[in-house]
Amino acid sequence: MSNATRYALKQVEVHTNVVHERIEITISDDGPGIPDELLPFLFHRFVKGKDGESGLGLAISRAIVERCGGTIVAGNRHEGGAVISLSFPAAAGR
Ligand SMILES: Nc1ncnc2c1ncn2[C@@H]1O[C@H](COP(=O)(O)OP(=O)(O)OP(=O)(O)O)[C@@H](O)[C@H]1O
Ligand SMILES: [Mg+2]
Repeated sequence: MSNATRYALKQVEVHTNVVHERIEITISDDGPGIPDELLPFLFHRFVKGKDGESGLGLAISRAIVERCGGTIVAGNRHEGGAVISLSFPAAAGR
């Protein structure tokens, strides 16, 4: 969310869904998108691009998400802008 608000021109969208017993969350923005050369390394520590800060946020996010049994993926939208997708198993007993 902090990345999306830093890079967005005007708009950040957060969508949540439950699909096949998984909770899916996407965060997208209408900014410049994530540079292609960063995408393979984006979740590594200290990887940052133009106007980046410490380069730790997404590495920490991935560690937390994976510890919860989830996945996190980064990409760019066809229309422009970045999209981060998270998916978690829904809690037992729902
Ligand atoms: N929504 C986005 N749009 C464009 N580039 C992005 C976006 N999110 C991340 N990036 C790129 O990925 C890099 C890594 O992001 P990450 O959150 O890991 O670190 P950071 O934002 O630079 O610093 P920190 O989160 O530790 O304060 C950013 O520096 C930026 O170049
Ligand atoms: Mg960040």
